[in-house]
Order: sequence, then C-alpha cells, then structure tokens
Amino acid sequence: MHVILIAGGWSDEREVSLSGAKKIHEALEELGHTVTFFDPAEDFKNLLTIARTAEFAFINLHGTPGEDGLIQAILDKAGCPYQGAGAAASYLALNKAASKEIFEDRNLNTPNWQLVTPTQGRQAQLKLDLPVFVKPNKGGSSLGMSLVKEAKDFPAALDKVFAMCQSALVEEFIPGVELTCGILGEEPLPLVMITPRDDSEFFDYENKYAADGAEEICPAPVDDSVTKSIQAQMRTAHEALGLTGYSRGDFIMTPDGEFYLLEVNTLPGMTPTSLLPRAAAAIGLSFTDLIARLMELGMA
Ligand code: DAL
Ligand code: MG
Repeated sequence: MHVILIAGGWSDEREVSLSGAKKIHEALEELGHTVTFFDPAEDFKNLLTIARTAEFAFINLHGTPGEDGLIQAILDKAGCPYQGAGAAASYLALNKAASKEIFEDRNLNTPNWQLVTPTQGRQAQLKLDLPVFVKPNKGGSSLGMSLVKEAKDFPAALDKVFAMCQSALVEEFIPGVELTCGILGEEPLPLVMITPRDDSEFFDYENKYAADGAEEICPAPVDDSVTKSIQAQMRTAHEALGLTGYSRGDFIMTPDGEFYLLEVNTLPGMTPTSLLPRAAAAIGLSFTDLIARLMELGMA
C-alpha cells in the first residue's frame, strides 16, 4: 500500500514528532508498505495533491497543525483514510479547556481550572487556590508549563505561555502519581504509572524523552478497582470527545486513591520512551503490530 507518513510540522513538539516518525517509518516498511514522508513545515501546499495519490496517511504530528484537526480535514477532502480521530473531534480534544468542560459535563473528575483568554492576558486574576499549573491551552509534552506556588509568579508563568499559545489553562495542582490509560480500538489498555527519576515536581519534557528520565511501570501497580475505574472513565472521555481508533488519557492519582483526568491526547507520542506503545506491548502488541492495528482501524 502507498502510505504517506505525515510528521514534523511547526509546533514546539516537532522533535518529538520526528523521533516517533523514525520508528513508524521502519514499521510501515516492515509491513511491506511504500512510504512517502511528508513534512507540512516544508511542503504544506502540496498536501492535498499528495494525499490524493496515497491509499493511507499515517499522521504523527503533535500540537498545531496535526493534532488540531487541520491535516485531518485536508485528508478528508482528499478522500485519504488516516488513523485516529477525525477533524472535529481532534479540534475539541486539543483544546484543554473545551475538553474539561466536556469531562465535567460527563461527571469525570478533573482538577479545578480557569482559562486565561488573550483579552485578559497577564492582568488575569488568579481564581484558584495555589499551587497551580499554568500551561498552554493547546499544546503538549509539558512545554511552556510552570508550577506556580506564589501569586507573584503568576504573571511570569502567563508570559511563558503567551510566547507559545494565545490562551493559558490554569489548573489546581493535585499532588500524586501520574497514570495514563490508552484506548485502542475502543478498548482500554493496561495503565502505565510514571515516576520522574530526578527531583522534578512533574513529568516535564526532559523526563518524558530522556531514555532514563522516568520510571514507567505497566501494568501499573494499583488495585484492580482503580484500574477498572480509570479505564471506565477513559472510555467515557474518549466517547464524549467523539474520538475513534485510539487515544491516551493522562490522570493523577492522589495518595488517597482519588483520581483526576487531566487531558486526552489524540495523537499520543510514539517515541522510544512513549507510553502508548508501552501499554500496547503489555498486551503482546509489538510496535509494528500497533501500527498495523491503527491502520486497520483507520481503514474500517
Ligand atoms: N503530546 C505528547 C506527544 C503526548 O501526549 O504523548
Ligand atoms: Mg498531552
């Protein structure tokens, strides 16, 4: 099959995208496909034309464009199938504030939050109890994110966000351990538990992508009841956002065993240290098997 592998792009997660794309390229070739690599940052104006020549597009972009539905909308125009969520659902899921409105509407536990709009800017009043996380409302890999412990540091944290994104999501800090839950073919995968190895206060960019940046345990060593509840919440979130094929939700579990859904990623990282491939391996799917399954789901 002729597959276009779409990766790179111009978001701050470009390197993450290219790192995952290397592995995906190898897997697609191992599966016997003919691969054309396409980087929207270099050749955006030819996407529609190239997509019309392909039988499938494998998208490995993170952030904007790609995780926001733009590429998916162009592929829809071209009549080229692709893996994962469609354009509208991708647009919704990349927006953390819009996703949290939907989580709350479905009674999913998510940390208290406020959106700082471009109109409010750095003058915005903090409406939550400290400490808070301040992060780009559309973004990933913890880039541009700060943990604010004192009110005086809030404007600087907003400035950091506004250098990358127009709106900031402010979220109450929930102390605990991070757990992720993937969905593949509408079925939840085993949970992964993440413990950053250094003394960082959260799972930051370095911890995420350094080979020994974090300890990731799958299946997560938590009670069966916790696993089942998180998997059920993840199914609800996936369905409520209108997602298809796969996704990965990031949760925090407190020492008391309460858990909170932070966000859902529609194009989860596929690097050598990424979490969804890790969870797929735990049910016996190699990286190449995972790519084959995602293509099968995308073509269904
Ligand atoms: N945004 C990164 C790639 C992830 O969620 O895996
Ligand atoms: Mg994310």
